[in-house]
Amino acid sequence: MHHFHYHNGRLHAESVDIETIAREVGTPFYLYSHATLSQHFKAFDHAFAGIPHITCFAVKSCSNIAILRLFSSLGGGADIVSGGELFRALKAGVDPKKIVYSGVGKTEEELRQALHAGILMFNVESEQELDALQNAAADIDVTAPVSFRVNPDVDPKTHAYISTGLAKNKFGIAIDQALAVYQRASKMKNIEVKGVSCHIGSQLTQVGPFVESLRKVKNFIARLAENNIRISHLDLGGGLGITYDREEPPHPDAYAAAIKAELGDLNCTLILEPGRVIVGNAGILVSRILYTKTNIAKKFMIVDAGMNDLARPSLYGAYHAIMPVNEQRTGKVVADVVGPICETGDFLAKEKEVPDCEPGDLVAVMSAGAYGFTMSSNYNTRPRVAEVLAKDDSYHLIRHRETYSDLIRGEELPDFLK
Ligand code: LLP
Repeated sequence: MHHFHYHNGRLHAESVDIETIAREVGTPFYLYSHATLSQHFKAFDHAFAGIPHITCFAVKSCSNIAILRLFSSLGGGADIVSGGELFRALKAGVDPKKIVYSGVGKTEEELRQALHAGILMFNVESEQELDALQNAAADIDVTAPVSFRVNPDVDPKTHAYISTGLAKNKFGIAIDQALAVYQRASKMKNIEVKGVSCHIGSQLTQVGPFVESLRKVKNFIARLAENNIRISHLDLGGGLGITYDREEPPHPDAYAAAIKAELGDLNCTLILEPGRVIVGNAGILVSRILYTKTNIAKKFMIVDAGMNDLARPSLYGAYHAIMPVNEQRTGKVVADVVGPICETGDFLAKEKEVPDCEPGDLVAVMSAGAYGFTMSSNYNTRPRVAEVLAKDDSYHLIRHRETYSDLIRGEELPDFLK
């Protein structure tokens, strides 16, 4: 469900004409719908009503501070994976007591920053990280709230690059080795053992793997209890998928129902870290066709957005539907929609049926709200694009397009070249 629809022959975001935004902001740009973001957040959060929980939005999926502020105003927290994301979340006004910090490679400096901020919980992923956290906490004389990310060795049945809960993945501590780590941690002076966490992957389209990993984690929590280690928080990570094409992922209600059924009487506060399911279909990338050409083999549509703006098709072979902004473009053609980057891997659609557009036409690359802007780069020295938030009949620029000066900010000529 989303709020990008045709009205009077043109694609709108809520009640805003996308062509008007393009004229005023320029292209390409990311465009989010406020109503969609809010509804998706609420649908997910309400699905867990009745059990103590915090919906900690996965900042990596879409990190604009306006969007983080929106979720925090709806009661959400944040799942962060770097000092930079901590900085953003705090700037956006997220309550530190609703921030959880995941990731395999937190630096000492990042640990210290998060301790100073007083976050809810560190999801620790190795024994060495535990030692680093103990040292950092001792230095500033505080106690670090900890949950260990356990790796349950469950196949999430998704793209290999975004599977995280298999034994061969770099994430977490193998569930069979974790008890000893908890025992060690519970004796550490500046560590408070608070929870267990796990995240098995992203874009999951079935509940089975979630339930299987929860079952393993629950057994593990029982083993902890037998060893007199009681935890108050259970972090189930994120990972619920969305429809890009024909996938039929479970609705958050079905996901929550399956989790609740498996939880039984486990007396913990649940932490959930959804990203994609909330923002994925709440954002699009709007781009303009520059040129078209047909060579012997096929037709190309060259647009002004490239793999630096949306990396998912190139990186994962991901599918993103492409819609014309002008509804009258009803014709279809099999083509490659490619960007201006000097790489053959630079495409937004490859040999797909796409609207038969002309130079100057606008197209919307759908389902680009998650891991779209946040994975964009300056490759080929291209300024990162603007981000726009539509709400009812108005729109708001929530990130300015970068300028050429932004692109060389921080670069310097050494004296010998001056
Ligand atoms: N929690 C942790 C610890 C994670 O690693 C992730 C995503 C999430 C939560 C949020 O997962 P979600 O609900 O969004 O599935 N760039 C890839 C996705 C990478 C996901 C990384 N971790 C893509 O574009 O598909």
